[in-house]
Amino acid sequence: MMSEAKHDLIIIGAGPGGYVAAIRAAQLGWNVACIEKEPALGGTCLRVGCIPSKALLESSEKFWQAKEELEEHGIWLGAIELDLAAMLKRKDGVVSTLTKGVDSLFKKNKITRYRGHGRITGSGRVTVTSSEGETNLEAPHILIASGSKVAPLRGIELDGDRIGTSTEALSYPSVPKHLIVIGAGYIGLELGSVWKRLGAQVTVLEYLDRIFPGMDSETADEALKIFKKQGLEFRLGTKVQSARVEGEECVVECEGSEPVRGDRVLVAVGRVPNTDDLGLESVGIELDARGRIPVDAHFATKAAGFYAIGDVIAGPMLAHKAEEEGIACVENLVTGYGHVNYDTIPGVAYTEPEIATVGKTEEELAAAGVEYRKGVFPFLANGRARALGQTQGRVKVLADAKTDRVLGVHIIGARAGDLIAEAATAMSFGASSEDIARTCHAHPTLAEAVKEACLAVDGRAIHY
Ligand code: NAI
Repeated sequence: MMSEAKHDLIIIGAGPGGYVAAIRAAQLGWNVACIEKEPALGGTCLRVGCIPSKALLESSEKFWQAKEELEEHGIWLGAIELDLAAMLKRKDGVVSTLTKGVDSLFKKNKITRYRGHGRITGSGRVTVTSSEGETNLEAPHILIASGSKVAPLRGIELDGDRIGTSTEALSYPSVPKHLIVIGAGYIGLELGSVWKRLGAQVTVLEYLDRIFPGMDSETADEALKIFKKQGLEFRLGTKVQSARVEGEECVVECEGSEPVRGDRVLVAVGRVPNTDDLGLESVGIELDARGRIPVDAHFATKAAGFYAIGDVIAGPMLAHKAEEEGIACVENLVTGYGHVNYDTIPGVAYTEPEIATVGKTEEELAAAGVEYRKGVFPFLANGRARALGQTQGRVKVLADAKTDRVLGVHIIGARAGDLIAEAATAMSFGASSEDIARTCHAHPTLAEAVKEACLAVDGRAIHY
């Protein structure tokens, strides 16, 4: 069956970039269509990424606390048992509630949802193909928000089961005995932490001689020490060559060292832009060397009327970065104004403790020859952290030596992912470390550690 429809804006992809852009454009009065091939809206983030992983991180943390930490609080629970099926069911429930939430936001904002694969067929035209047939859509503006997919690793064939990606690792039917994680980045360390807490032996193989590449290295080193204490095993500087299933075992071959044997392998060596069968060639859009769609400052591609945001363009592959871009792109189209401040996009690893960063690392400042002052405050000296029993980590603030403007904040510690919002807000307003230091912070809160680290920039922290 063939049908046709006209809209002001067609968005390809209903991930955090695409669905948020759709809502904003609808708020601004446009007739918006959003194409998504998966039955559920929300993209990788909601279906098989950020949200289910956070649900499992929370559940596994509670399990770990019940087993290892509550005694210290005077709470004896007796024998603790894991009901993995119930834990996975709860995670699926969190995902389905949120994806249905996006459905109702689409209805509320009168966004037309097309289910199927969207393919560009020419200027202003997209065809949606589904099992029910084809629909030809027309719009003067087309936004590509098709996200990313798992980066392949040479020598490794994913079998969708024992040798798999984060998608499989969100639903292992039983706790692995020995999980081999390839890649010490966000996915490897978050999901490695989940299964470690639930009882697996976890070995992380990382090509570089450090974890979390790109993160402020002092902060990443501290994280490595903490993860090792938690029992995660690391083999840094290890180049993985192949992985295969041999009977009940998975065997991972590494250059220059003994193979590693386990019962499951999680491949987490990054993600690459997803431009599969998008029809970009029909309008002359060419990808850059890393497979991304080149765009200008207003997210316009070189083909008139075509725009792109999120993981499919340059920059960190983060849901909130895609959201900001979606909103800025659409606002710019409708109102003429739209902007993303790339200097204040936070990054968070939801491990325990959390690690959250915004702005420049020490390495970046040193490489750029920027003189800076550094203030550090450990959570050991924070009253609330003591009361929580979560005293690991610290806050580090980097401020311009001349102007005192905050250039970077790096936090490792309890609820760092929430604490970083203050730093991002302050930096958006061009705050100095003194501005934050002179802001009254409630006592006793973890946020006082941010204030104290700002005081420490000037050598005047009170409690340390
Ligand atoms: P990543 O880029 O964070 O880490 C990949 C790691 O694999 C790197 O440390 C890299 O050096 C290593 N690696 C690459 N090739 C290797 C090899 N042959 N052998 C051993 N190690 C190798 O990528 P990840 O963790 O897969 O995440 C994908 C994307 O999803 C990232 O862009 C990340 O930002 C995003 N993400 C963000 C999260 C968050 O914000 N909390 C959570 C999960 C994912």
